[in-house]
Amino acid sequence: DTGYICYDQGYGNTGSCESTITYLDGDNGILRHRGYPIEQLAAHSNYVETAYLVIYGELPNAEQRLKFGKLLRENATVAPQMQKFFDAFPKDAPPMVMLSSMVGALASYHPELATNNFETDLKNFDQSAAVLISKIRTIGAMIYRHQKGLPFIFPKDLPFADNFLHMMFSEPYEDYKIIPEVSHALNLLLLLHADHEQNCSTSTVRMVGSSAANIFTSLSSGIGALSGPLHGGANTAVMQMLQSIHDEGDDGTRFVEAAKQGNKSNRLMGFGHPVYRNYDPRATIIGKACDEVLAKLGIKDPLLDIAKRLEHAALNEDYFISRKLYPNVDFYSGIIMRALGIPTSMFTVIFAIGRAPGQIANWREVASNAKGRIYRPRQIFNGHPQRDYTPMNLR
Ligand code: SDX
Repeated sequence: DTGYICYDQGYGNTGSCESTITYLDGDNGILRHRGYPIEQLAAHSNYVETAYLVIYGELPNAEQRLKFGKLLRENATVAPQMQKFFDAFPKDAPPMVMLSSMVGALASYHPELATNNFETDLKNFDQSAAVLISKIRTIGAMIYRHQKGLPFIFPKDLPFADNFLHMMFSEPYEDYKIIPEVSHALNLLLLLHADHEQNCSTSTVRMVGSSAANIFTSLSSGIGALSGPLHGGANTAVMQMLQSIHDEGDDGTRFVEAAKQGNKSNRLMGFGHPVYRNYDPRATIIGKACDEVLAKLGIKDPLLDIAKRLEHAALNEDYFISRKLYPNVDFYSGIIMRALGIPTSMFTVIFAIGRAPGQIANWREVASNAKGRIYRPRQIFNGHPQRDYTPMNLR
């Protein structure tokens, strides 16, 4: 009824579209993970606990949380042989290309978890989930260090987000000093990206997983889809947009006028959404956190002022109102990440780290329900009716 064609497995059965993980009501700006509103999770939970909820369907009790945290810590390092991939990646290789390659390559370092057989891969699911959540985070930090030409920093026995900051920003001789506000803000960002129904990249994971391809290959494909600037790459595009507005001495007014001409190259990045025809609830939470984090860190970011002017224009100008274009999750997230010292090139990698639980949970849902029935969407054929071959000399 949303006008979206569910994937049809080719047998008239849209069961492949059914899911119990995330509920999204685009008209009313509602987002729930396993029934819990995103606002409550953002206020009371954290990324690892929400990851457990998204994957296993229930909030963990103390014992389950301890066991999950132990699994994540045990799988935080990346095999030394895998580090050699970075000898081959150019320093300026696109981070999401490196991430997608490394996640796919995990299948070759964990062959027991990547048998391309639903039954055996599901039997080892808990280990695969922990390997992916923990190592995608570690690989993300390695990508940052590679870009900077810095040595890799090994994980420590730290909370998830703190370990990421440590592996990104510590030096061999001096540990990064974790600032509570920075750790909390990163945790919130990761939590808010944990899952989002059948978005482009998660649907890709479901599609690839339905062929009985292993979970590593499936997530590697999803990371590829997420890298697109209309999707996970939008947070990077938002910052480039804000920076160019700032560099041109525009306060946003000229840019908004250009965006209203409707050409794709002048779109307001971070605005609009394929499903939300109302405010993206994540944007509301991130926008508020943005103000708090910058105030606590004593940062005055001119790009935030421009962002607020763009938001004001969009909320008051008919062009945007009539098209139901509101800020989405990507609009303010870049400003927070910049305040945390994370470079623009890493924004989509952070999105991918956050989204791993959702992709993992969706792979498992397909692998458990597919029973060998591969996704095979049908099409509306608009091509030529049958016609006969003509020899070259008659064309
Ligand atoms: C994410 O699906 C998910 O759940 C994704 C995500 C997740 O968590 O996984 O939420 C993450 O991908 C968020 C979206 C990030 N992308 C961007 O911010 C890129 C900028 N946004 C647009 O490109 C666009 O809004 C989309 C791609 C997000 C949605 O596109 P739609 O719904 O297909 O909208 P459309 O292209 O059909 O446009 C409808 C109208 C058009 O105008 P008209 O032809 O009717 O005159 O709205 C206009 C568009 O030109 N329009 C915009 C606009 N987005 C749409 N005009 C200016 N600025 C924009 N951003």
